[in-house]
Amino acid sequence: MSKKRILSGMRPTGKLHIGHYVGALENWVKLQDEFESFHLIADYHVLTTSLDTSDIYQNSIDMLIDWLAAGLNPVKSPMFRQSQIKQHTELNLILGMLITVNRLERNPTLKDQVRDLNIEHVIYGHLGYPVLQTADILLYKGNAVPVGDDQVPHVEISREIARKFNNHFGDVFPEPEALLTKFSRLPGLDGNAKMSKSLGNTILLSDDAETIKTKLKKAVTDPQKVRKGDPGNPEICLVYSYHKKFNPEEVKEVEAGCRSGQLGCFDCKMKCASKISNFLEPIIEKRKYYENKIDEVKNILSDGETRARKVAEATMDEVHNKMKLG
Ligand code: TRP
Ligand code: SF4
Repeated sequence: MSKKRILSGMRPTGKLHIGHYVGALENWVKLQDEFESFHLIADYHVLTTSLDTSDIYQNSIDMLIDWLAAGLNPVKSPMFRQSQIKQHTELNLILGMLITVNRLERNPTLKDQVRDLNIEHVIYGHLGYPVLQTADILLYKGNAVPVGDDQVPHVEISREIARKFNNHFGDVFPEPEALLTKFSRLPGLDGNAKMSKSLGNTILLSDDAETIKTKLKKAVTDPQKVRKGDPGNPEICLVYSYHKKFNPEEVKEVEAGCRSGQLGCFDCKMKCASKISNFLEPIIEKRKYYENKIDEVKNILSDGETRARKVAEATMDEVHNKMKLG
């Protein structure tokens, strides 16, 4: 039996942080053995929230390097930019005829973004975000889509659109399933539940040991624990969340030390910083390799785009046939 296919994607917003790794990339790396994977750089999706295109290309390259450094294998899995495969826009247009404005207005992810980014007037393309995402998935006949919980409503919309197309024109698309990423998201350095570039609370995959120490020194901890000797509550401390992920072998000790007061926050943070640095060391090494071989990175991209385009063209031929468009 041939492997099932996954389509995973991210918007290129610059260098990736450890939240991206824990919430998505780590999972993608594992999935690439079990599934046939396509990895999409969703550069057009960036336009839904910003018309400043000056950094999109460089951000795409930076993200691709982080993907490679984290262990995605370009031989197994094509990596490509949405903007370079014309069929995304073509299928987007067709799929836009299969869903109502009303349904798109009910998208909770859109509502959250409108609130978080203080958007006064939603543009047409932003409303259509999940339609373009559906085109991303269906063009490659993705059976599954690895996502965090905020993206589940989008995959639900993709399923509805696939069903609608198949019922109306004949079977072309599998109904994609959301593969929920297990590890919950990593909190930011400021204690926010989410690590995110726009909140400025990240540790980058490319941060060196000194930078990580400096960032952790400023991290928010249990406010009740002012100095060493004070008992703390690790459950409300983001540093403890990082220990759980990056220092599993000492997590019990950290918890006990924090609760009893024997462990001070400074020591706890420095221990945590060095564990994160150890964890990132191989990724940083690999990143350096690719940074010095930009031509190789560009070849990986153009090879990925050639492979993706072939699949996309075949799907669009089928779509046009079913629609009797020749
Ligand atoms: N919406 C996704 C995000 O913000 C990015 C994305 C675009 C995507 N197209 C996709 C994810 C297709 C999965 C499949 O994270
Ligand atoms: Fe957080 Fe560690 Fe301080 Fe406890 S000792 S509050 S876990 S930084």
